[in-house]
Amino acid sequence: MNNEDIKISIAIDGFSSCGKSTLAKALASKLHYHYLDTGAMYRAVTLFAMKEGLVKDGLLYVDEISRRLDEIDITFERNKETGRSDVVLNGKNVEKEIRSQDVASLVSPVSAIQAVRRKLHKSQRAMAEKKGVVMDGRDIGTVVMPDAELKIFMTADTEVRVLRRFEEQRAKGQDVSMDQVRENLKTRDLIDSTRVEDPLRQADDAMVLDNSELTPDEQLQMALGWALKAIEDKKNAVTP
Ligand code: DC
Repeated sequence: MNNEDIKISIAIDGFSSCGKSTLAKALASKLHYHYLDTGAMYRAVTLFAMKEGLVKDGLLYVDEISRRLDEIDITFERNKETGRSDVVLNGKNVEKEIRSQDVASLVSPVSAIQAVRRKLHKSQRAMAEKKGVVMDGRDIGTVVMPDAELKIFMTADTEVRVLRRFEEQRAKGQDVSMDQVRENLKTRDLIDSTRVEDPLRQADDAMVLDNSELTPDEQLQMALGWALKAIEDKKNAVTP
């Protein structure tokens, strides 16, 4: 194998609003790797359930959602204006809709449904087979890509995360309060880390990145250093 062809897989997991996708996108762009936002896929399934009336008064029709998963097709398309990947649900670009507070408040219970996870894992694993991928989520280093050469577990102080998410949502014109954002983050963290199916947990071999006091560039430099070292280690392992 040519050294130039050596690529690794990078798994990024962590609590909500830790800046996982910011870091994952920046790393993918620096390394010319593919990026997959797995949270967006769970959000798309949640939006489907909402639109099809499979959620009423905050209650999920779990059996019905599980039965209708074959009707869900999730793809990504490049947005020429932002240069990023937008989520397409059954042929419709739903990037904006999946970031709403309504979806945010239902996505954790939807993502705790076993059949939903099994469906999404299939496409995530297919993507993981190509090397040169950065994937972010909650179970990437533990379940989806347990063999990833670099695993990063991100964390940040709760109030720092609340403020970041609040400012982000306000900038998008969403009418939310700090209290709503705080409540949503705490509830999601709790459900995501205590659910039976693939709970969020730090992989034993993960590097921990607490970015409470780091700028996006500082955290990128730290993660890039780890990635280059992992690539170097892999080169040394294959070169006699
Ligand atoms: O990263 P995010 O906030 O867009 O993710 C939305 C939700 O999806 C999150 O609260 C939990 C769920 N999720 C998951 O269970 N497993 C993943 N790999 C990614 C996200």
